[in-house]
Amino acid sequence: MNKTPEQIHEIVRERYGQQARSSSCCCSPSQTLYPPELLTELPDEISGFSLGCGNPITAAGLKPGESILDLGSGGGLDCFLAARRVGETGRVIGVDMTPEMLERSRMNAEKLGFSNVEFRQGYLENLPVESEWLDVIISNCVINLSPDKPQVFREMFRVLKPGGRIAVSDILTNGSLPESVRNNMEAWGACVAGALDMREFRLGLEQAGFTNIHIQPKNERDDVLQILPVGQPFSAIITAQKPA
Ligand SMILES: C[S@@+](CC[C@H](N)C(=O)[O-])C[C@H]1O[C@@H](n2cnc3c(N)ncnc32)[C@H](O)[C@@H]1O
Repeated sequence: MNKTPEQIHEIVRERYGQQARSSSCCCSPSQTLYPPELLTELPDEISGFSLGCGNPITAAGLKPGESILDLGSGGGLDCFLAARRVGETGRVIGVDMTPEMLERSRMNAEKLGFSNVEFRQGYLENLPVESEWLDVIISNCVINLSPDKPQVFREMFRVLKPGGRIAVSDILTNGSLPESVRNNMEAWGACVAGALDMREFRLGLEQAGFTNIHIQPKNERDDVLQILPVGQPFSAIITAQKPA
């Protein structure tokens, strides 16, 4: 790749800054990602603004009182769904690097009157969160956008409490994408070119210290992983744990 990490952050921030100001979405409409009973908990203009590629909320199995971090929180949809599950005694923090997204999510939080949700500006590669503080990390279609995934995995491990868990929805591939696609910045911003091969994703999590790693293609059984076409991006739910 011929771009520096800073240039990739800038390209991605520019794209999502524009998206925050519009109402159009990049991946799939929320209705195709979440069960209807989740979406009806929130007003349409908030539940309809998803730039994700799956549903980390159901996979996370959140409990009252837990503290949650959402990596790349966008308009805040997953944070608000998480806030309902952890309740008043729990806490949800969304981190995003794009000022326009933070403005949108903070405005939404105010409209909804949530007192247990906070949005912080920062990078996945250098999380503005103290160490060993969180029960659960969720994320929806963001890690693929990072120029330094091993550093993101290390940061995730750092901020989780021992025994903490992750539930991440992201785009992965089975085998490498062609070099021409990898270097295409339009495709990077669209959550395709930066997608890791599923084996590399697993290895990255293992090297950071995670255990019980499970990768499941969205809406499919996990044995489908064996027969996915080589080089094709797919949406997956990844769960793992920091050892207790
Ligand atoms: C595809 S959108 C997903 C937003 C949200 N998770 C959702 O499901 O609607 C990606 C978001 O991640 C943020 N982002 C991308 N790379 C980031 C990074 N390295 N650090 C912090 N935020 C990042 C973008 O600003 C954008 O809001």
